[in-house]
Amino acid sequence: MKENFLSAEHFAALNEEIRHWQQNANMRAMQQGDTETRRTLLDPQALEHLPNTAKLFTDRHFQRLVQYANGHRRLPFFNIEQIHHGVKAQQPADPQKNLHADTFHPTMKFWLYLDDVDDHNGPFNYIPGSNRLSYHRLKWEYRTSQQAHKNPDPLAARGSFRFSAADREVIGLAPPHAFKVKKNTLLIANTFGVHGRGQADPGSTRLALWGMGRTNPFIPFPGTGLDFFNRYQYEVLKWLKGRGF
Ligand SMILES: [Fe+2]
Repeated sequence: MKENFLSAEHFAALNEEIRHWQQNANMRAMQQGDTETRRTLLDPQALEHLPNTAKLFTDRHFQRLVQYANGHRRLPFFNIEQIHHGVKAQQPADPQKNLHADTFHPTMKFWLYLDDVDDHNGPFNYIPGSNRLSYHRLKWEYRTSQQAHKNPDPLAARGSFRFSAADREVIGLAPPHAFKVKKNTLLIANTFGVHGRGQADPGSTRLALWGMGRTNPFIPFPGTGLDFFNRYQYEVLKWLKGRGF
């Protein structure tokens, strides 16, 4: 966690341009339980219209932090993310509010918050030290993986395991920490660690710049970090989406 990550002037200008940017072509809405997540992909074409955001994403200090946390030199996909809590009262609970790991290997997510985050709009919860592959965690992962295909929770069945209080006890995990933070805080997480969205008031929202890096864990090389590949990955993503992946 890095508070006051940008200078006050840079943050104010970035905040202004993101909130007033009327470009919905790249926006995707995803409903999970009663929470709607809206993400707008910030590809190189979009960033031509967002100079203060581009200034952050090309800043070497920022890039090195996310590259280090991702264990790879390729930059993550950049997005604007807005979370809308409790949008449909009849829906089941948001599955991302259960404590979970994203997958079986280290992955990176970051948020640069444009709103203050507290109990009303769902702070990020994380169990300190749960990114470590301890002997108990490894044993638990192995046993859980053998039963996962029978799990009625489709997210757990696909490999994003959920951690009940009993599971956390077996692994020896600490209680989660809620990151109630001020705007202009940069948070970077290894989402192999146990985490979840905090509970939030229905109707509340939070806005952030968000990115995710999930590289194939079996590639032993850290990549090149060349700008060509960082730009080209958006073309690959669009190509895949155009074919329904
Ligand atoms: Fe997650």
